[in-house]
This record gives sequence, C-alpha cells and structure tokens, in this order.
Amino acid sequence: MSEVKKIAVIAGDGIGPEVVAEAEKVLKRTEELFGYRFETEHALFGGIAIDEKGTPLPQDTLEICKSADAVLLGAVGGPKWDTNPKELRPETGLLGIRKALGLFSNLRPAVVFDCLKDASTLKPEVLEGTDLMVVRELTGGIYFGEKFRRDTEHGQEAVDTCAYNVSEVERIVRQAFEIAQKRRKKLASVDKANVLETSRLWREVVIRVAPEYPDVELEHVLVDNCAMQLLRRPSSFDVIVTENMFGDILSDEAAMLTGSIGMLSSASMGEGSFGLYEPVHGSAPDIAGQNIANPIATILSVALMFRLTFGYADAADAIEAAVAEVLDAGHRTGDIAVDKSKAIGTTAMGDLIVAAMKK
Ligand code: NAI
Ligand code: MG
Repeated sequence: MSEVKKIAVIAGDGIGPEVVAEAEKVLKRTEELFGYRFETEHALFGGIAIDEKGTPLPQDTLEICKSADAVLLGAVGGPKWDTNPKELRPETGLLGIRKALGLFSNLRPAVVFDCLKDASTLKPEVLEGTDLMVVRELTGGIYFGEKFRRDTEHGQEAVDTCAYNVSEVERIVRQAFEIAQKRRKKLASVDKANVLETSRLWREVVIRVAPEYPDVELEHVLVDNCAMQLLRRPSSFDVIVTENMFGDILSDEAAMLTGSIGMLSSASMGEGSFGLYEPVHGSAPDIAGQNIANPIATILSVALMFRLTFGYADAADAIEAAVAEVLDAGHRTGDIAVDKSKAIGTTAMGDLIVAAMKK
C-alpha cells in the first residue's frame, strides 16, 4: 500500500465548490485505479470564511494547509465582499496564504489540446504540439521593491525599484531546472541582461548552477524576444523561468495561446515538494450555482499536483489523457463549445473525465 497523502481542500466561493467537487471525484478514481491513498481535509477560506469566521484566512485553515502535503484551492471572491475593508476581502486571504506557506514561485502550464486549436486566435499549425510551463518568481522584483514619490524641478517623480538577491534567484532557478528534468528537459531563462543589473545577476546564477543539470538544454532569451517567440514558435518551449513582472506578463500571453480560461491550471510552490494548486480563473460569480462552469482547469490542477508534489506521473498522465479523450469525443462545456446548445454541465464533464481515466 502506498503512503497516505494529505490534501487540504479549499473550495472557496462562487464556482469554486462546483469545480473542486469534480476534482475530488478524480482523486477518488485515482485511488481506485492506482492504489494511491489520499486523505482530504476541507477548510474555509475567502468570502465564505469572512461570513462564517470574520476573516478570509482563519488560523485553523492555515494549520490544515501547513500539515498537508498539498493544497487544492477552487477560487475566492465575489461582489458580496468587494466593498469590504482590505482586511475583510478574499484577495487579502490569497496574498496571506501564499506568504504564510512560503510560496515563492507560480507555475502555469499552457497546453494546447489538438481539438481546441480553433479556440485560439493563432493559426492551428503554429500552435500544434504546444505544451509549455511558465515558472514565475512570485515574491521579489519590482512588485515588492521600495516605491515612493518625490518632488523634482520637473514636477513629481515616481520611483519603483527592482531588487533580487542570489538566494532568491537560485531557489527558483533550481526549481525550474528540476521541473524541466521531469518534462522535455529544455529550459529557457528569460531576462533583460542587456539592460538590467538584476537580470545580469539572474543570468550569472543560471550559468553557475546549469552544470549541475547537464541533461537540461538551456537557452537565455531576452524578454522582448521571448514575447515574440511565444507567438512565433510556442511549441519549441518547454519550461520558461523568469522574474516576477516578466513572468506576470508572459504567463498571461502564454495563457492566450490555449483559448479558454476554463482550461488553465496553476501551481504555487515553495521549498521542497509542497504546493498549492488552483485553476487560473476566479470564482466566476456570473455563472455560479448553475452547474455550467468548466471543471477542467481544476482537474488539470490535480494532475499538476500529482506530477510536482507526489511524483505520481502515471496518474497525472491518466488524467491528462482522459481530458484529451473527452474533448476529442466532442464534449464541451459552454466556455469552449462552438455550438452552445450542445454544451454539457460541470458534473457531466467531471463524470466523463472520471470514466475515461485508465491505468
Ligand atoms: P473570473 O475568472 O472569475 O471570470 C472571468 C470570466 O470567465 C467570467 O465570464 C466567467 O464566467 C468565466 N469563467 C471563469 N472560469 C470559468 C470556468 N471554469 N468555466 C467557464 N467560464 C469561466 O474573473 P473575474 O470575473 O474577474 O473575477 C470574479 C471574482 O473572482 C472576483 O471576485 C475576483 O476577485 C475573483 N478572482 C479570484 C481568483 C482566485 O481565487 N485565485 C483569481 C481571479 C479572480
Ligand atoms: Mg496577470
């Protein structure tokens, strides 16, 4: 029997509980098929936690997450809490949980499913075979640097500063190399080393640690060139690692290769194998409670958890293959359907994927 893995499950608000319920069916099916064992513990977070406990991130939720091997998160937020003061807003909980769990990298796969190639604005032949992962540094750089305003003889001046130290760069670069080793063994390190000092340090670190990962093919790409190459030759990328702001922009650009937000999974990682897994989309209050949300982003987040935290590549492959099979057979939720009248619901999509999973 395999070791029991503890998963903290945070359904959250809006469509969160609906899509998480489908992901939990996939967990259960994985146990049956592969003999892995999961213990799930549900915790309150976001708007629902504000309503029931008076804070978006209750202490016991944090304890449950800290004692787990991984966290599965739906989504939080909604109009009900939008006008609350900052400390009573769901987004404050998101920042708080990432910080409290030491999550310094955000991983976003962009996979183009063959049968959804038409959903993108790019030509299908350009997208063919695209399967990449953006690894974005999440806690440093210009978003967290000192910022201020001062008066000058030319009027007010605003200053943002960008700082990175060696250890901040090294931990994420090593993580990206390790992820590349589990994929197609190609890493693109993206910087602006022709102009920025932080980028020159970034590149020095990459060059220094690269010999420890001789099986990974490394390229350095300037960020402006990377923005172009993502549209020109997306399928040539495997793993892209970059600093916070470049990663923010490039991961959104990469997301648009794939078509719908209902398909995009993500992980936030810290040291070691612990990770928080969630769909890229939000709580979609406009479609909540109607059983029409696409659960695939959350289901693919489970596959990501299996691959990155548990090392269950066989089960991750099975989930991804099942999703591809169901899409190939023509089943679509409303967000990815061409003919909306034939769209299926959240639970029907989850059931089809579970039924298609094979060992
Ligand atoms: P959103 O991602 O929730 O929705 C954007 C659009 O995409 C909506 O039309 C929605 O119906 C659609 N959509 C999203 N997920 C879908 C799915 N799985 N299937 C089908 N259609 C889907 O972003 P929005 O509207 O900007 O934010 C709504 C709430 O979610 C806000 O309170 C926001 O703060 C929160 N949010 C939470 C995030 C998180 O929990 N990590 C991330 C982004 C937003
Ligand atoms: Mg963004």
